[in-house]
Amino acid sequence: MINSFSPEFIKNFIKNPTHVGAIAPSSKELARVMIRGLALNEGEAVLELGPGTGAFTCQIRNIIPDSSAYIGIEREASFCRFLERRFPELQFVNGNAAELDTIYPAVSDKPAKVIISGLPFATLMPRVRDSIIDCLDQLMTPGTIFRTFQYVHAYPFPTAVEFRERMYRLFGEHHRSKVVFRNLPPAFVLTWQR
Ligand SMILES: C[S@@+](CC[C@H](N)C(=O)[O-])C[C@H]1O[C@@H](n2cnc3c(N)ncnc32)[C@H](O)[C@@H]1O
Repeated sequence: MINSFSPEFIKNFIKNPTHVGAIAPSSKELARVMIRGLALNEGEAVLELGPGTGAFTCQIRNIIPDSSAYIGIEREASFCRFLERRFPELQFVNGNAAELDTIYPAVSDKPAKVIISGLPFATLMPRVRDSIIDCLDQLMTPGTIFRTFQYVHAYPFPTAVEFRERMYRLFGEHHRSKVVFRNLPPAFVLTWQR
């Protein structure tokens, strides 16, 4: 099996399909590609948006020097409780990434040099999507890397294109990975660097 199914995930997808945006957690292969080539310098942190049940968090642990270099922001309270049980050493905030500009400085004084997003930008409400992008604009300093994924079948969807266009206006061209086939559905990993 490529993606492992999780009752927690299916339950939240049924409850809130546009926020959760996927029926199963991402695969290990997609998680590896999401983290590939990333490294932190001393005193820097990784910020994860929408960790869900922790598919990417597992891999992020390999690049952080210690647990204080990680913050996860997750909107679903039940995912947050799940994450706190699964990764007791890491800090998760049950909050909305659209309020990232106030949430992050309240919980960390380290610059977030790597931002890993599992957020379903193509299905989020435009107002929420745009607030998150505005927050990224405030948080990302020169050198900051923002990485997310988009499903191949949804890549041409108007909402997915609109997300990329808005990102382009602030952060310029992105790098697109080869298709990650070992994920259902297959996905591209997209990287912007300020
Ligand atoms: C497609 S799932 C990805 C989960 C996980 N990263 C993975 O790849 O398996 C999207 C996640 O983003 C969370 N989410 C959606 N909107 C959010 C928001 N505005 N702020 C924080 N988390 C949000 C959902 O609750 C869900 O956990």
